[in-house]
Amino acid sequence: MNFIFLGPPGSGKGTQAKRVCSELDILHLSTGDVLRENVKNGTELGMTAKTYMEAGDLVPDEVIVGMIEDKLKNGELDNGFVLDGFPRTVPQAEALKEMFANNNKSIDRAILLDVSDEEVVKRLSGRFYCPTCNAGYNYPAKMPKVEGVCDSDGSKLLRRPDDEEDVVRNRLDVYKKQTEPIVAFYRNESVLTEIKAEGSIDAIFDELLKITKEFK
Ligand code: AP5
Repeated sequence: MNFIFLGPPGSGKGTQAKRVCSELDILHLSTGDVLRENVKNGTELGMTAKTYMEAGDLVPDEVIVGMIEDKLKNGELDNGFVLDGFPRTVPQAEALKEMFANNNKSIDRAILLDVSDEEVVKRLSGRFYCPTCNAGYNYPAKMPKVEGVCDSDGSKLLRRPDDEEDVVRNRLDVYKKQTEPIVAFYRNESVLTEIKAEGSIDAIFDELLKITKEFK
């Protein structure tokens, strides 16, 4: 079960990938999460990525492709996965195709989560997270019991620096210019499935499970 979740920022890739992977017992690989962890720990990769991420721009292809290549070599992709946030450019999609061809792997489905720009801005301006346990909250969809405080450990909730409205607008522009062309790439490969991702989180999860479980 090898899947890619595609879609603009805030389309729900992370939310859904986490649930689908837990249900199917496969790996959830979010390049954004790996990069944020590296920024937090001050690694060389994190220092390279930080400026791009804070501006809402993409980290250079060779950095990201190298990261995925390491995971492939370590066997982390051997038992099924959802790639969340990768590939994000045509060169990344081509590099993945070549890496997989050399390792007898393939993508079963690339699933596009389609949402409008207004919905993206609304979701990301309401997103908060706990820096201690990483729990996610969203105003008004998923509020903490006490405003600004994590339900689990009482930490003060934070916003991602790239969720400021001007950065979100740039992330949307970057998505349209650099990432949207990979939709055609996967359509040509005959593995693309598109879903409307503006209903409830539960309804979208059910739809994704139906699609992915066919490959079990
Ligand atoms: P990344 O972390 O991948 O950010 P993104 O793609 O912009 O995605 P988000 O995490 O913002 O959104 P999502 O689609 O996962 O939605 P989520 O489930 O969180 O990347 C960050 C940065 O890292 C990039 O800008 C780039 O700099 C760099 N990077 C990463 N990968 C790279 C690559 N391959 N190449 C180069 N650079 C790379 O949901 C969002 C909010 O909406 C949440 O609060 C959630 O609760 C809520 N929500 C979700 N679904 C619903 C729903 N159905 N209804 C109502 N609310 C909902």
